[in-house]
Amino acid sequence: MLLQLSAVANFSRLLQMDRDKDIGYSLLTPEDFDQVTTFIDEDFLTREPLNLGAHPRNLGAHSTASSASGATGWYLTKCLASGVSFGARDFKTGALVGARLAYIKTKTDLADEESADEKKTELESRGLSVIEEVGSKVNLFQDPDVEKVLYMYLLSVRRDFCNRGIGTKLVQMTTERGKELGCQLAFATITNMLSGRIFLGLGYETRYTLDMSTPEGDRGFDLSAMEGNTMVQVMTKRLG
Ligand SMILES: CC(C)(COP(=O)(O)OP(=O)(O)OC[C@H]1O[C@@H](n2cnc3c(N)ncnc32)[C@H](O)[C@@H]1OP(=O)(O)O)[C@@H](O)C(=O)NCCC(=O)NCCS
Repeated sequence: MLLQLSAVANFSRLLQMDRDKDIGYSLLTPEDFDQVTTFIDEDFLTREPLNLGAHPRNLGAHSTASSASGATGWYLTKCLASGVSFGARDFKTGALVGARLAYIKTKTDLADEESADEKKTELESRGLSVIEEVGSKVNLFQDPDVEKVLYMYLLSVRRDFCNRGIGTKLVQMTTERGKELGCQLAFATITNMLSGRIFLGLGYETRYTLDMSTPEGDRGFDLSAMEGNTMVQVMTKRLG
């Protein structure tokens, strides 16, 4: 029986290795803008819990929402120019099946980001209000030696490629690159429990939690549309 179990475990590990050969990882650059925004429109905006909870009765809005413009477009441009954003591609089709968008934030970027706020569409304002609220609870530059922060902006893996380690690999690659480029701290806002597992597993610690299922955490979102993902967490990791 024990032998049988270990044979099954070995077989599934082999299968995993075999499937992983189909995936290539690479740095995303400004040239990937169109592919990335299409991927985000189709695979992130339609699944990320806060987006679902913010517009539950208006799911059609997702199909018309575009990450190419508004504040999202502004941040994506910044992420793609940053040298810390990675993509996963299916070798067979060349399709983007995962993206970890991130950028390096310094104290002087804070003013620039205020100008991005003016670009927010109504759809963005609703979802982003919670992200900004929880993000503001952690002072990124609290430690005097922190000058560069690896700011995790968005993570998505295509539905049919999930649960095979792609999200974990992308976060790991971005974290390592951020460290190489001199970031002292990495920061992420987590809206999906699966994503929380990735960051915990990579040594990130939870700094703040908003539980939207409590009366104090109620921000008027439709929790029933969020598939149990009612916690929004800020996680950080010291990199140097
Ligand atoms: C969250 C997301 C990026 C995870 O990507 P992924 O490639 O499936 O992640 P991994 O395969 O590396 O798995 C991460 C963890 O989730 C678990 N997991 C992933 N899919 C799962 C599933 N369908 N059922 C159960 N567990 C699952 C894995 O077992 C792993 O857990 P472990 O670290 O304890 O072993 C992906 O689900 C996604 O894009 N969701 C929609 C967008 C979103 O919510 N983004 C994150 C916002 S913070």
